Formats: sequence, structure tokens, C-alpha cells
Amino acid sequence: MNSTRDLISIRDLSKKDVESIIEKSEEMNKQIEAKKIKETMKGKILANMFFEPSTRTIMSFSAAMQKLGGSVIGFEEIEKTSMVKGESFIDTVKIMEKYADVLVIRHPKEGSARYAANASTKPVINAGDGANQHPTQTLLDLFTIKKLKGNIQDLNITLLGDLKYARTMHSLAYALAMMDANITLVSPFGLEMEKNFVNEIKEKFTPRIIQTNDIHAGVRKADILYVCRIQKERFLDAYEAEKLQKEFMISPELLEESKEDMIILHPLPKVSEIDPRVDDSEKAKYFMQAYYGIPVRMALINWVFE
Ligand code: NCD
Repeated sequence: MNSTRDLISIRDLSKKDVESIIEKSEEMNKQIEAKKIKETMKGKILANMFFEPSTRTIMSFSAAMQKLGGSVIGFEEIEKTSMVKGESFIDTVKIMEKYADVLVIRHPKEGSARYAANASTKPVINAGDGANQHPTQTLLDLFTIKKLKGNIQDLNITLLGDLKYARTMHSLAYALAMMDANITLVSPFGLEMEKNFVNEIKEKFTPRIIQTNDIHAGVRKADILYVCRIQKERFLDAYEAEKLQKEFMISPELLEESKEDMIILHPLPKVSEIDPRVDDSEKAKYFMQAYYGIPVRMALINWVFE
């Protein structure tokens, strides 16, 4: 065990921590807009260790570190590391922490970020561990909701898609319960959020939480419609994944049932769960959401060193 400040799971944060990170992210956003960024990371190195594909997470962490005056090293493919020669994950972590001041890790195995954090004397940030957690995505989701709606508490937020395998949904459902939002979980049959996880949230926060397979009900009720793709790579049978994907699609026609000021968020990448015509709708805010990855990750990089 070590005494660095890590960000591994949203469970590690209190409501106060979340509120403070959102505030710091707003401060970062202001610094970016004013073109007056405090270079707090000058002389520091961030290592990206990505054992799974990524566009937004890796790019926005790199951009965030560079905006703070720091530099970035890392890899995006295991094939480019000595792990192909048989080196263990933990040995790789122990080497990278000698070269860098903070490690950002994405890995297909649940628990791998925690495992790395226990072995590292430098802070570790979880950039997604299997189907488990994606806390930095959740913090940028919360920041986006706060920016666009002014508050999180009491909003009706519908989480729609693959709630079984999407780590983004696990972290977000937990955080929304903590922030006192009203949550509706909508998924295809068989991809519901795990019972144990829903029970954990219920016991900790007594949230107003409903589960349904009715996409129309979820859309009609929502102030925020948060969609994610079917996590095909976590299915044994890709055909099953594709079949489910076709059943769950957000079209302009379906959106006619939604509230006037409803907004659609998505962690991206989107595949076919959102009709491309929806991108032009005023309601679609997912590209803006992806941008907010920069100020939020700047705030998080500062936060682990506090
Ligand atoms: C997500 C992920 O990797 O979990 N992507 C992201 O970081 N924005 C969502 C996904 O892959 O569906």
C-alpha cells in the first residue's frame, strides 16, 4: 500500500470531493477561456498506459497535462511493450512509475487499476478497468450536467444502453445517486445493471431509482438522456451484441416524445445507437461533453498532487 492520492473508483470520493472537483474544473475552464493557465505541472511527467483502445480519454489526458506545462510519455498497445516478451503487468507499472510522476491506466481487467495503485509509489488514475469503473468520465459527465443544467440534484436522468458491461454507466449511476438525482435505468433485456450494484447504491444513498426495458418511458421522462453503446468487445457472441444494438436506437422520431429542453449525453464512441441525424439537434450535447474532458482532467491531474 502507498500513501499517494489515486483516483480508482468513484466509490473513493465523497459528495464533498465531487463538488470540489467540479469547482476546480470550472476554475480550469475559466483559465483556458482567459488563456491564462497556471503551469502547475512544469517539470512533471504523465505516463499513459493504455492496454485498451481510446481516443478521448488518452488525448484529453495528454492535452490536459501539456496545457498545465507538463509532458507526456506512454504506450497505447501492449504489443509495443516488453509485456509481449512475458513481462508482468505489475513489473511494467513498477518501471513506469520510475519514469513518470503520475500513471493513467486503462486495462480490460476489472481491478487492474487498484492493483497497480497498490504497487505504485506515484499516483494512479483509472482510465477504465474492464466493465468496472471509469471515474474520470463520470466527473466530466457531472461537470457537463452542471454546466448545461445548473444543478444535478432532482434532475430526471435516464441511463440508456448496455448497463451490464458499460463501466461509464456504473461510475455514473453511483455518482448520480450520491448527488440525489432521479435515475431511470433503461436497457435491452439481459443487459440490465447488476442487481448487487443497484442494491449497493440503494443501501448507500436511498436514491429514487427505476429500472425498465421501455425505451419510450425512459425518453419521455428525461431531463438528461445519457446513452452508451452496446459494449461489443465484452460479449462472447458478437452477433448477439449487434442484434441488441439494432433494437436500441435514438432517432429524431423518438426524440419527438422527449421534453423540449432535454439534452442527450454520450461518453462516445457512438456506433449505431444514435441516428446521425440526431447530431444536428439542439439536444445533442455529446461533442461539447467530450471537450469538457480537458478542464476536468486538468483539475484531476492537479488534484492527485494536492
Ligand atoms: C468509454 C469507455 O472506454 O468506457 N469511452 C470513453 O472513455 N469515452 C465508453 C465506451 O467505450 O463505450
